[in-house]
Amino acid sequence: MTGKTTSVLLLGGGGREHALAWKMAQSPDVARIFALPGNDGMAALAKVTLVPGDPADAAFMLAKAQELKPDLVMVGPEKPLAAGVVDVLEKAGFVVLGPVKAAAQLESSKIFAKEFMSEFGVPTAPYRVCNSYDEALDILKLWPVESKGVVIKADGLAAGKGVVVTHDRAEAEKTLHDFMINPECQVKSERILLEEKLTGREVSAFALCDGNTFLPLGFVCDYKRVRDNDQGPNTGGMGGYAPQGWPSAKARRFVAEKIFAPVIKGMQDRGTPYRGILFAGLMVEGDDVKVIEFNTRFGDPETQILMPLIDSDIVPLFAQAAAGELGQGKIALKEQAAVHVVMASEGYPETFGTGMTLGQKIDLPENMLNHNVNDNGLLFVMGAKKKDGRWTNEGGRVLGVTALAGTMEEARDIAYRTISAIRFKGAHWRKDIGKNS
Ligand code: AMP
Ligand code: GLY
Repeated sequence: MTGKTTSVLLLGGGGREHALAWKMAQSPDVARIFALPGNDGMAALAKVTLVPGDPADAAFMLAKAQELKPDLVMVGPEKPLAAGVVDVLEKAGFVVLGPVKAAAQLESSKIFAKEFMSEFGVPTAPYRVCNSYDEALDILKLWPVESKGVVIKADGLAAGKGVVVTHDRAEAEKTLHDFMINPECQVKSERILLEEKLTGREVSAFALCDGNTFLPLGFVCDYKRVRDNDQGPNTGGMGGYAPQGWPSAKARRFVAEKIFAPVIKGMQDRGTPYRGILFAGLMVEGDDVKVIEFNTRFGDPETQILMPLIDSDIVPLFAQAAAGELGQGKIALKEQAAVHVVMASEGYPETFGTGMTLGQKIDLPENMLNHNVNDNGLLFVMGAKKKDGRWTNEGGRVLGVTALAGTMEEARDIAYRTISAIRFKGAHWRKDIGKNS
């Protein structure tokens, strides 16, 4: 059996990791959490120590793990997974929650994911793989764009920029040219996927997996567009909520039996048992569910919604999953509505990296980060720093607030009341999170 988890090494430094650190710090077993690199929000938690460095640097991570000797390593972001950090740490005897590099291709290669889904019967949109620009043009020529639509996807990790849901043939041709030929396009891919366009409502489903079995962790809807009513460009996520009474019980069973279970079985068959978090981006139409994509980690900001909703002590469950000993346990979820709203910097996402208004002082009411002593929403820090007692915004998405309550309306009220007490120059956020849920 898994021993007690006294110390945890948590990789990553965003809002997702703040929520994970906040939840894990509540475990009576845990004495210390080393967050690498972590952020100043989680540094406010008594058990957390920040450790500087790059979590995707495998050699560095091995040396750090050997120095810190954690009982459990929890991987937040995708980059360390794609870089094989889990493989290196597991080989050295560490207990790690996160898939090995071969299994993490489910996220790091869209073509791998589609071929895997075909092989193991996971429902997804019909697709074709194109190995060259000429081949892509030939396939597109015969594609029924008018009746089935066409979605174009670059193969590798592209920070959310490698997918275009096209409106017509001309846009499809332009996207192929951009992704495969145009040197000015940020996205570059030698292999491309063409996919039929799915219709319905999107939701993300999460499962904790131990290589042999899994526990469902719940469903979250997020908001990708920057402005209200889904206007403006895509972002990393402007907020979300836990849907209530939807998807149907039948659809939820389908997700467990026809999506999560075949992935676990397929990864076993391939000799790369899937241990870690499995995140399925789904399109739901009635009881019909199809996979849009897999991620091999928790979502950001979905985790900021899931962690507060989980009633159980998450640490023994994470440790059991990492050790391949999950058994038949259940994860208890609170019967509450949950809403999460993200505050972003001026210029995000249009001028990401260069043109954003950063370094602005953030007015944070006293004790806002001490979740035990106030009745505000829970504040999670994404792209903000604290220096000499002064907070400034240093990223596109700066912070997010989660509120739990008996109803969606109450949760929205708490979240927006909390947000309006936080101020910085240029701050913007969506006003419609959870509104028409
Ligand atoms: P992905 O990076 O694969 O999650 O795609 C980004 C977004 O593109 C998804 O959240 C969907 O909104 C949309 N999308 C991707 N594939 C499809 C598809 N086959 N049909 C409709 N929308 C899609
Ligand atoms: N919120 C989507 C993601 O984490 O990929």
